[in-house]
Amino acid sequence: MHFKVILIFSLLEWVLAARKIPDNLLFGAATAAYQIEGAWNEDGKGESMWDRFEHDRGGENGDITCDSYHKWQEDVANAKQLGLNFYRFSIAWTRILPNGTLNSINQKGIDYYLNLIKALKDAGIEPMVTIYHWDMPQHLNELGGFLNPQFADYFGDFARLVYQLYGSYVKYWITINEPLSICLGGYGSGQTAPGLKLDGDGNYQCAYVLLKAHAKAYRIYDEEFKSKYNGEVGISLNTNWFEPAKEDSKEDSLACERILQFMFGWFANPISNGNWPQVMIDRIANRSALEGLARSRLPEFTQEEIEYIKGTYDFIGFNTYKVYKAENIDYPIGNPSYNYDSGVSYDTDVFYFYPEGFRKLINFINHNYNPSSIIVTENGLQTGDSLEDQDRIEYLTGYIDNLLDAIELDGINVVGYTVWSIMDNFEWGTYANRFGLIRTDFEDANRTRTWKASAKWYQNLIATRELKN
Ligand code: NOJ
Repeated sequence: MHFKVILIFSLLEWVLAARKIPDNLLFGAATAAYQIEGAWNEDGKGESMWDRFEHDRGGENGDITCDSYHKWQEDVANAKQLGLNFYRFSIAWTRILPNGTLNSINQKGIDYYLNLIKALKDAGIEPMVTIYHWDMPQHLNELGGFLNPQFADYFGDFARLVYQLYGSYVKYWITINEPLSICLGGYGSGQTAPGLKLDGDGNYQCAYVLLKAHAKAYRIYDEEFKSKYNGEVGISLNTNWFEPAKEDSKEDSLACERILQFMFGWFANPISNGNWPQVMIDRIANRSALEGLARSRLPEFTQEEIEYIKGTYDFIGFNTYKVYKAENIDYPIGNPSYNYDSGVSYDTDVFYFYPEGFRKLINFINHNYNPSSIIVTENGLQTGDSLEDQDRIEYLTGYIDNLLDAIELDGINVVGYTVWSIMDNFEWGTYANRFGLIRTDFEDANRTRTWKASAKWYQNLIATRELKN
């Protein structure tokens, strides 16, 4: 009797602690070609700017990484066993178009993705395809990359080709992954490929070209493929959430609003409301004038460009990982930079575990851009190498709990949630930072995959459609 009562109570506790997941929320996991495929120069693949960048840098690189180019069937089997509703991956541009242009087309590259996509469909997993996840063809990089106004045309050609090749199978397309990272890292700080240090100029010019390339890819689908395939095209934007460093400081909370405009609004505003966020236009013009420049460092869109870019998404995808404490700083004039333009400072070394920020961010996106649907295209935790990754489970639990609040309590239409990543992979310069649900053994020639505790946890979440706290 006593035993039965205890059993009933613990069952009750278990039921109460579990949170039902709404039926229309889909779960997935993500990767990107350069981070998992390896086979960097096999079967006709051309050189990408990341191949070149890492070879020049001389440290670790993506030459082999998880060797998914050869082990893709095992990866699909893992995705199936996890029970994923969708799998997000990217297409290596140079596998299909070795020099990035339509001059030569590589059939083996085409077949690789066709086989992958068909196997996913057979496994009941929806493919979500990122067209550009940073691995620009080196040839196009040499023509200026995102600083070349013609880039939009090259990107449009590539996008059209992949729609033609895979459009009948693919429901979700993402044009470009993390414009913010691309422009700040590649054309501002120079820490990522192509490594240009043009802070305060290059990053804004990159965004200007990138948005036109995105819009072109969206419009090509919309005009030439939508009626046939009825897929959806979006973009993956990224930002952190920010809380004021000094809680009662008006300046700091304004700084938080501003940095969200500089990070997220920078790309979301042009595609949603048209034009850059007003706060960026004003601040950069003002600082440029004080620097003695006759023009703002922020390129000006023509009215025609504003109209062309506006409305170019069926869903907003976003990636987010961390929350930081931000403060207002009045940076001196005379050293043009994106950070100085924003007037905000935050310490990226202090990771603030605050999953409530996720719910606030979803509200921010919904409120400012009012998309018909939102997909979380990346979220996850970077850890060391451990199979008992309770910290990852705790992180994901907190974030998904807040996601459910945003859906159920705030009434926001979030339709997908994606863990970065299904497996440990090459984190743009290092193998030490691991995000995988599944461990990849980079010491072992076979690149053995082993499930971590978080993989079993995610499998259970998807199977039961319940979040247990
Ligand atoms: C951002 C990028 O999209 C992805 O490539 C990267 O590995 C993860 N987030 C983690 O940093």
